[in-house]
Amino acid sequence: MERAVLLKSPYLTYEGKILSAKMIGKEEKYFKIVLKGGRLLDFEPGQFLMVAIPGVGEAPVSISSSPSQVGYFELVVRKVGTLTSAMHKLEEGDQVGIRGPMGVGFPIQILEGSDLLFVAGGLGIIPLRSLINYAIDNRRDFGKVSILLGCKTPENLLFNDELDTWGKRLDVNFSCIVDRAAPDWKGNVGLITSLIPGVNLDSERTFAIVVGPPIMYKFVIAELLKKKIPESQIYVSLERHMKCGIGYCGHCQMGGIYCCKNGPVFQYSKIKNNIEAF
Ligand SMILES: Cc1cc2nc3c(=O)[nH]c(=O)nc-3n(C[C@H](O)[C@H](O)[C@H](O)COP(=O)(O)OP(=O)(O)OC[C@H]3O[C@@H](n4cnc5c(N)ncnc54)[C@H](O)[C@@H]3O)c2cc1C
Ligand code: FES
Repeated sequence: MERAVLLKSPYLTYEGKILSAKMIGKEEKYFKIVLKGGRLLDFEPGQFLMVAIPGVGEAPVSISSSPSQVGYFELVVRKVGTLTSAMHKLEEGDQVGIRGPMGVGFPIQILEGSDLLFVAGGLGIIPLRSLINYAIDNRRDFGKVSILLGCKTPENLLFNDELDTWGKRLDVNFSCIVDRAAPDWKGNVGLITSLIPGVNLDSERTFAIVVGPPIMYKFVIAELLKKKIPESQIYVSLERHMKCGIGYCGHCQMGGIYCCKNGPVFQYSKIKNNIEAF
């Protein structure tokens, strides 16, 4: 089987074939994709792809599956505009253009051997799921694994079956919270920040990985710092409008750095003073 080194060809669009497609939320569609010609996508959790539909356009989409699942990759796309609406019309057997993988992912070699605290807000679970499942598939390479997931309502939760599986594992601490819910919801209600004080962690050996809507970072990071997690042990993934995905067009610039090329994953200590980052 030919192994495509896509990182060296960021200009080339490869043909992807959709193996399966289904709605997994009110506005979110899941795609399982293979590259044509038996090519394999070589990626790190946290990286993204430029997904193209001829005649419509191109958009950045995070790879949601773990690289430990070899042979295919998974994307989840919320319908918000032109390209994402066109993607929602695609079904099993249809084709998409794939450029990438793009950007800097989570630093697995640095995280190995340490405790991991995942904090996912809303759609942040889409890219974080890649690293969470990587850590679960390689469970012996990591210490304690804790996952905090926050969402607007229970109806907005994605990957429900997987959340159940994570919750049942004895070697994973999983907590979920929603902003608001009907009275029959048995889980937590409140902001994701309210879960952090209750997490039992050893700050020296914990890396926190935070992905969520822009408003979330300031408050979550303040709670993590209260728990004495060093700034250098906090990683975030940021989102910006992107066009080229490879550091040329300047659309994703944040105070002199490019979200597409230098990120989307950043060590918090390195960007905390970048006023355009948060
Ligand atoms: C690194 C990265 C990873 C991403 N991963 C995912 C993912 O896994 N799943 C997913 O559903 N979406 C993801 N997105 C967001 C996705 O790229 C945008 O929703 C998409 O580009 C919108 O394209 P469109 O043509 O459908 O919308 P357009 O018609 O271009 O715009 C529709 C609306 O969305 C707004 N918009 C467009 N792009 C962005 C953006 N990047 N951030 C905020 N608002 C935007 C526009 O301002 C407009 O209001 C990611 C973005 C980045 C930068
Ligand atoms: S998207 Fe063009 S520079 Fe980042």
